[in-house]
Amino acid sequence: MWLTPIAGALILLLAWDFVRKRHRVTTLAKSKIKGPLSVPILGCGIQALSLGAENFLQYGDELFEKYGKSFCFWVLGECAVYTKDLKDIETVLTSTTLLEKGQLYRFLRPFLNDGLLVSTGRKWHARRKVFTNAFHFKVLEHYMEIMDRNSGVLVEKLRKVAGGKTPVDIIQHVSLAALDVITEAAMGVQVNAQNDPDFPYIKALKNVVYIQPDRMFKVSQRYDWLFPLLAPLLHRQLVNDIRVMHEFTDKVIRERRATVERAKADGSYRPLVPGDADIGRKSQMALLDILLQATINNEPLSDADIREEVDTFMFAGDDTTSSGVSHALYAISRNSKIQQRIYEELVEVLGQDPSTPVTQTMLSELKYLECVIKETMRLYPPAPVVGRYTTMDLVIGEKVIPANTSIYLVPYFAHRDPDYFPDPLTFKPERFLDGEEEAHATFAYVPFSAGPKNCIGQKFAILEMKSLISKVIRYYELLPLGEDVKPMLNFILRSSTGINVGLRPRNLK
Ligand code: HEM
Repeated sequence: MWLTPIAGALILLLAWDFVRKRHRVTTLAKSKIKGPLSVPILGCGIQALSLGAENFLQYGDELFEKYGKSFCFWVLGECAVYTKDLKDIETVLTSTTLLEKGQLYRFLRPFLNDGLLVSTGRKWHARRKVFTNAFHFKVLEHYMEIMDRNSGVLVEKLRKVAGGKTPVDIIQHVSLAALDVITEAAMGVQVNAQNDPDFPYIKALKNVVYIQPDRMFKVSQRYDWLFPLLAPLLHRQLVNDIRVMHEFTDKVIRERRATVERAKADGSYRPLVPGDADIGRKSQMALLDILLQATINNEPLSDADIREEVDTFMFAGDDTTSSGVSHALYAISRNSKIQQRIYEELVEVLGQDPSTPVTQTMLSELKYLECVIKETMRLYPPAPVVGRYTTMDLVIGEKVIPANTSIYLVPYFAHRDPDYFPDPLTFKPERFLDGEEEAHATFAYVPFSAGPKNCIGQKFAILEMKSLISKVIRYYELLPLGEDVKPMLNFILRSSTGINVGLRPRNLK
């Protein structure tokens, strides 16, 4: 008796699924964008979600191998096109209207809310203008002292594990140093993560930035309504960690705002102006100060506005840089000639004494190290995927990406494509020396993305990477110890086997 209504409901469900997908399915078929078999309702999601984050890049590699430079992928009603096609990358990144992020960025919203990375429209545009000040080169000079001091703490911390015999998972150390740098640069507070990794804010942040993106690969955690039911403990931990993070940021903002108000009241307040010759010496200078003094349409930013932006900088500026630095140290450890050349450049530009503080000008003279960093981000881009969402059909040459589709550009695979980079799997910093190969590969080489929504912190990131890497190599010889990396996608590029190197103190005179 109840078979009839069940069959009726099933037919209705299948019809609804067919209708809502029809435009996208036919448009993709006309554009010859293929993908793995997609069944009604479920799409191809079950297969992908059972792979786990550790195997997802391997699976992507197989799909690119099979379907060419782009393929489509369905999970329930969500349609995504993954592409490493130069024309697609150029069209998407240079568009001034296609700014909405892909659907998977929803996993960042619980802790970033509507910060710069995920916001669009007028809000994004106005704030992007404000933040440009935060990366003025005079402001960057101030951050140099923070980077140099924390690089110094890092080499001290590494002393305990630098026996030269045992592999060290270097990202464990680098990520705490990067956290110290970004917390001080963004909020003007020293959390001392390297000395106190159990500081509640640091622990909470580390959990949230790992667990939230990991949810996308797990059926039981992917959907907000199912997550608390199927993984209640993890859900509770996440809610608690996000609360800890937000409370800490709120407290720092309140205290900083009160200090500014007091300074205004007693007449000692001087607003920060990026062109100001003195700005590099202002001890209180942090991104937060720029946000506190900013106005948009003559209105100051509220505490909630500021919090979402500070949280965004903490997320966008921490794990990306740690991934870049750690992969660079790993690649250098496996290439002794490259390491020797870097060391010679360091001695030539920075001198024999590794404790000498470095300036922005000195770091800008490290040309070979810069090529090593670029080559690292080619093979191991810290942001391996960049996504957008189309609300209208997008025409790219002969093909059309249908409305209501996420487009994921995959620098990880574009950077490893022999059509764009000869001998792509060889680590060869020289390819960036004369700029020829890089120029030839415009839009195939996009570690910081490109166009209006590119990485606003890229100059900061390059300086920080140079600061941390140069300090480690001035103190230690890197050795090829431990298991090789197995790249893994977690929004950020990580490695499921760790990022292993050996460390031996140099015989410094
Ligand atoms: C090696 C380190 C880094 C890499 C590889 C990297 C890469 C990226 C990429 C690929 C994007 C996305 C662009 C897009 O969607 O088109 C991005 C956005 C962003 N990054 Fe970075 N990033 C790094 C470090 C930093 C640092 C240190 C900061 C801040 C201090 C930062 C702040 C941001 C912000 C705020 C955005 C959003 C920009 C917007 O949407 O307008 N990033 N980054």
